Order: sequence, then C-alpha cells, then structure tokens
Amino acid sequence: MTALLSLKSIHKTFQKKTVNENHVLKGLSLDIDKGDFITVIGGNGAGKSTLMNCIAGNLVIDEGDILLEGKSIKDTVVKQRSAAISRVFQDPKMGTAERLTIEENMAIAQRRGKKLNLLWGVKDSDRLIFKESLAELDMGLENRLDVDTQFLSGGQRQALALVMATMTKPKLLLLDEHTAALDPKISNQVMELTEKLVNKHHLTSLMITHNMEHAIKYGNRLVMLDKGKIVVDLSGEEKDSLTVAKLIELFKKNTDGNLNDSQILG
Ligand SMILES: Nc1ncnc2c1ncn2[C@@H]1O[C@H](COP(=O)(O)OP(=O)(O)O)[C@@H](O)[C@H]1O
Ligand SMILES: [Mg+2]
Repeated sequence: MTALLSLKSIHKTFQKKTVNENHVLKGLSLDIDKGDFITVIGGNGAGKSTLMNCIAGNLVIDEGDILLEGKSIKDTVVKQRSAAISRVFQDPKMGTAERLTIEENMAIAQRRGKKLNLLWGVKDSDRLIFKESLAELDMGLENRLDVDTQFLSGGQRQALALVMATMTKPKLLLLDEHTAALDPKISNQVMELTEKLVNKHHLTSLMITHNMEHAIKYGNRLVMLDKGKIVVDLSGEEKDSLTVAKLIELFKKNTDGNLNDSQILG
C-alpha cells in the first residue's frame, strides 16, 4: 500500500555555512498511512515544529523527498499543499483572522486551496452549514456568527480553528501543540473535540504534544523525535499498553532531552 505521506530521509539545516549552522532534521524517514493518527513527542528543539514546517511547505528541505500519495511535493509551496494539508498551531491567534467574524473566517476556510474572494459575502446556505458544525462544539458559537474572533476565548478560538482546519476534509491534519497554550481543563476539552472531528471526517493526523497523557490516550501510533530523527515508533498493542511511567522510561533511554513537569502533564 502506498503511504498517504512518505518522508524519505529528509534533512534540514538552518543557517548553513555560518557559525550558527544547525542541522535539525537528520535523515528523518516516516510513512504515514491513511487513517493514522500519530502523536509525536520529543524534547525542546528536537525538530518537531521544523518537521511540520517541512511537511506543510513553510520550509524547503535540503535533501530527501516528501511524497503525498506517491507523488513528490517537495518543490511545491504552502498554497499548493494547503488543499491537502491543513494545520492548527499552538497560538490560538494564528488559526483565525481576529478582525473578521466567525462566519467570515469559516467562509475563508471553506475555500482553502481555492481562489479567495469574499466579495460575495457569506451565503445563507453556507451559514446554515457553519451553524450546524458550530453547534456540535457546544460552546454557543452557533449564535455568534457575526462576532469578530478577537472576542473569543483561547479555547473557543482553538475549537473554531479545528473546525476550520477540518471542514474541507484535508488528506492530512497537522497539529502542533495546539492545546499547549490552554488551561488543563480546556486543553482536555479541545483534545476531545479533536478526536471527534478526526473520527467524523476520517482524517489522517499528525499531532505534536508535550502532554504525555494525551500522547498515550489519543491516536493509534506514537513516535518520539530526538535530534532530528525518529527514535521510537509504537503502534498496536505496544502503544495501547503504554503508561506515563513507561513513556518517561522510553524517553530517558532514547533521548538526552530533559523532561520537566509541564512536559509530562501538560
Ligand atoms: N526558522 C528557523 N531559523 C533558524 N533556526 C530555526 C528555525 N526554526 C527552528 N530553528 C531551530 O531548529 C531547532 C529545532 O526547532 P523546532 O523544530 O522548533 O523544535 P521543537 O518544535 O521540537 O521544539 C532549534 O534549535 C531551533 O532554534
Ligand atoms: Mg515546536
């Protein structure tokens, strides 16, 4: 079976040929199958966000290849990849345009990868669809379609960002510590919502988290990154039987990253 996304020994170096040269991704290979929900953990600076930036096209890789359904996308730009690959960031401010209303943001998201034109406004038929998907969040946002997103809480904005990132059913959903900036309770709620949306749309997902409990609880596969390579890759029974204690052991054995409490419990 062809992997949905295949990373073939990718390399990324920052500030090449300077004293600050930093070889961050060092021949990283990963096959993501359709339907996978992979949680990614690793110490600070391991290269997790760099990996996402390379997949999304925000960074160009130096060596190796990135195949989407067997076709190389390594020379395409973010915009060309955005119909297939969508993303939610750690910062709730990144996911929505704060001076646009909820419905305007959703109308833009609906046109992901297509030509943008908001001159036509939001159609009534679309407004109904937006309302329905917001109602599922159970946050009352379905009655606030004309409110600018700057007036929403961090959790509401991340929930909206998730709905927007998934409404066009991307082939791959990238989540980069998207609950890390939220209170623990809200973070858990947004994770539950994440799982609900992933299941509803049958999405393939790659989720970076520093919350070990979330890394264990969610997804069918867990990978650990260290110094730009994957050092642990667990699925099936091996992943299902993980505990936080076991994962910390694995982390200590396979990385020289330092764990702090926030990395363990979020
Ligand atoms: N755009 C960039 N320019 C220069 N260095 C970068 C850039 N992005 C990341 N880095 C460096 O690459 C390393 C890995 O960063 P990152 O991928 O953000 O780590 P992680 O997300 O695992 O914490 C760090 O040393 C970081 O400073
Ligand atoms: Mg990061």
